[in-house]
Amino acid sequence: MFSKPKGTRDILPDEMEERRAAEKIIRECFESFGYREVQTPIFEHSELITEKSGEDIVEHLYAFEDKSRRRLALRPELSAPTIRLYANELITKPKPARLYYIENCFRYENPQSGRYREFWQAGIELIGTASPLAEAEVIYLAFSTLKKLGLKNFELSIGNVGIVRNYLKLLSLADEKIKAILHILDKKELGKLGTIGIEQGAKEKIIELANIKGKREEAIKKITQLISNIAKAKAGKNGIFEEIRPFEETLKLAEMLGVDDYVVDFGVVRGLDYYSGTVFEIYSRALDAQKQICGGGSYSLVKLIGNRDEPSCGFAFGFDRVMLALEREGKRFNNKKIPFILVIPRKKEVLHKAIEAAAKIRKQVSCELELSGKTLEKALKYANARKIPYTVIVDEKEIVIRNMATGEQKSKDVSKAEEVLDGIER
Ligand code: HAM
Repeated sequence: MFSKPKGTRDILPDEMEERRAAEKIIRECFESFGYREVQTPIFEHSELITEKSGEDIVEHLYAFEDKSRRRLALRPELSAPTIRLYANELITKPKPARLYYIENCFRYENPQSGRYREFWQAGIELIGTASPLAEAEVIYLAFSTLKKLGLKNFELSIGNVGIVRNYLKLLSLADEKIKAILHILDKKELGKLGTIGIEQGAKEKIIELANIKGKREEAIKKITQLISNIAKAKAGKNGIFEEIRPFEETLKLAEMLGVDDYVVDFGVVRGLDYYSGTVFEIYSRALDAQKQICGGGSYSLVKLIGNRDEPSCGFAFGFDRVMLALEREGKRFNNKKIPFILVIPRKKEVLHKAIEAAAKIRKQVSCELELSGKTLEKALKYANARKIPYTVIVDEKEIVIRNMATGEQKSKDVSKAEEVLDGIER
């Protein structure tokens, strides 16, 4: 017996149908905003990922060499591949590009509930434009898609890693320190700030920043004040105040679009290196440790791959976590596609008639043909066990449709198989 590799899952028909129903809603939401689907390879050149994604992802990479010693990696996420596709194929096309994907990704992580080695992301990338309105629309699309799916108990946090980076620069911290601090902030392990060799004063200021969490007006006031306190003159030169205004604008526009429930949180900085400005995360209150169901923000990746810059913004849902959260909230799409009819040949000699009848019935509803020569009794038992609502029993001259729940039967001439469903509710 083989078992599945650690961190992977087998998805059975009932669950698969729930996932497809949810996917359909997600596609409709994304497409209603003009996004079009793309597909990229399951593996990419390792460098695409190692150089652009940040330590955390690289540490968890499934990397290998192929027979020609090319260094490849299974994709751990889809922003870098989508941007590569854009740089290769779409860079000369009208901007912005609105692209979406629903695909599997791979990260060699320690599996637990909601954290897998193979998982699915459903995401969008808006490439070639940067403005508060673009950011607001992206945030609204994530927010409204979750609402459309019927998810109730979630929390949207919006931050700005550009402001945080500049703030850390104002504290005269070196680049590698800033990187380490962002990592600590992302992991919400503020206790570790003491381990990376920064002064107590700076440490306190970082904690103060990370703790700014609340409604727009209050949070903007606090961050402005915090910056004014540290270095008035430097702040002006650094342009950090200029970054606060567009961020505030993004928040106001998101509210205007309909994002009516969120918090500003300067502790949200995202684990991937490529983010540059507004960032956001969504958490489900129905989940445990792995409760982040969406991550996204503004970033600059095209310039690292292609030869010019294209500001971009996007997000990805952790699709499996969204499904888990919906399940925990009791949401079901009830989309089960159990076959409606089982066609049973009464005896071997009428098999050709049963095949013909099944073909006619299939034009109207889904229908299984009994293939294994079961007796009528066994075939009915099988239909019951499978919860197939109707059976059609084909004989020499007659065809009988039987309601499996009530036992009620109706018969027709065998040549009129297409009429057997007349008057039956489907
Ligand atoms: P990310 O936060 O690394 O961002 O991943 C997005 C989402 O994927 C997470 O919020 C989480 O729900 C889900 N996820 C990540 N790792 C796992 C795992 N091991 N098992 C199950 N679910 C997981 C990105 O990947 C960015 N590319 C998002 C983005 C798109 N930013 C801009 N555009």
